[in-house]
Amino acid sequence: MDKLVIQGGIPLSGEVRVSGAKNAALPILCASILTPEILRVQNLPHLRDVTTMLTLLGQMGVEVSLDEKLGVSLNAARIEQRVAPYDLVKTMRASILVLGPLVARFGEARVSLPGGCAIGQRPVDQHIKGLEALGAQVEIERGYIHARAKRLRGRRIEMDLVTVTGTENLMMAATLADGATIIDNAALEPEVADLAECLNGMGARISGAGTDSIMIEGVDRLHGADYRVMPDRIESGTFLVAAAATGGEVKLRGARADILGSVIAKLRETGAEVEYGEDWVSLRGLGKPGAVSARTAPYPAFPTDMQAQLMALNSVAEGTSVITETIFENRFMHAQELKRLGADIDVEGNIAVVQGVERLQGARVMATDLRASASLVIAGLIAEGETLVDRIYHLDRGYECIEEKLSQLGARIKRAN
Ligand code: EPU
Repeated sequence: MDKLVIQGGIPLSGEVRVSGAKNAALPILCASILTPEILRVQNLPHLRDVTTMLTLLGQMGVEVSLDEKLGVSLNAARIEQRVAPYDLVKTMRASILVLGPLVARFGEARVSLPGGCAIGQRPVDQHIKGLEALGAQVEIERGYIHARAKRLRGRRIEMDLVTVTGTENLMMAATLADGATIIDNAALEPEVADLAECLNGMGARISGAGTDSIMIEGVDRLHGADYRVMPDRIESGTFLVAAAATGGEVKLRGARADILGSVIAKLRETGAEVEYGEDWVSLRGLGKPGAVSARTAPYPAFPTDMQAQLMALNSVAEGTSVITETIFENRFMHAQELKRLGADIDVEGNIAVVQGVERLQGARVMATDLRASASLVIAGLIAEGETLVDRIYHLDRGYECIEEKLSQLGARIKRAN
């Protein structure tokens, strides 16, 4: 099993390019199911989750090929299997995103119910309830969601809570429904808007994506398109936090400041200088960062996907911070591992109180999920001596070439097995 070995204590410095967004790429790949024509996707990050999604689509009968620009072409003219099997869904919950498109285009889908997860229970009741509202008959059979509909019917759906993939699944399903659908209390995340832009490029009629009320006028068919995935705001945020935590200076090429508002605000609060232009963001750490409290909430508030990384920074910051996690009930697994490096963190329920310490000391730690892994890597970059981060397959799900990118910024980091 691969591990990362990090010699800490070096401020990050230099420039690095941001990859395409994992959480935009995954639903966009699923959008290919909605058309018999070719969808070309550019700026796909090379990640394990993307490979898993391509494997799932391939198993269903989608023809997947690489084009000359390293983009991926997807041709779903013939889909033989309208199934997402347990083996794949258990390794990647985002597989649930094939549900809406399959029912919309083929009138049927069987998708394994995702089980619990390292960060929380993560039910999918809103996906199911929304599809039922659009007229699908849904049954749970032997661990699978079995959904059927002759043709979905557009209508107004009020989501009980804000869910990102739930909004995406229903938005995709509604593109081919009979009549108009309005999704109220929709997720505002930029990845939802990116998916909507791709769908509109395929002939869908979606307005309001990026707001809490999305209107989708159903059409009879969608056509092929060429789409470039937006940059990854969580990868961007992770590098910015790493730079601030190490007192470094980095410039991110291809990053979008407009979707990093809450993260940039927190980083400025630590005392770091942040500047940006249309397609870059730079950060200069000014000495030891100041502690910053944060409360995670749906976009545009501080993202749960950046909480673990901010905790690593706070563990060596000047002062005390309070971090409140409101999205997932079990997303503090990294706290125990950070404590092994010498951090002073008290967790009670969904609140972590972090008392900044003078220094962290390298040790062997274990990653438990994707963003927890990123937090441990940042801690390793700060810590004195050697840190060994085990189980980094989590990291490979969501960070493209992380050790190459960090090396480019001067970090002493290597992969070992
Ligand atoms: N929820 C329900 N019922 C549902 C759906 C969600 O109760 O039917 C709850 C969840 O249990 C959670 C909250 O609603 O407490 C929000 O979950 P959401 O559905 O928004 O999460 P998701 O769509 O499964 C996406 C990202 C996650 C990110 C969350 C929150 C993708 C593929 N995944 O998950 O990304 O943390 O939104 O922003 O887009 C990551 O990249 O590391 C990651 C976990």
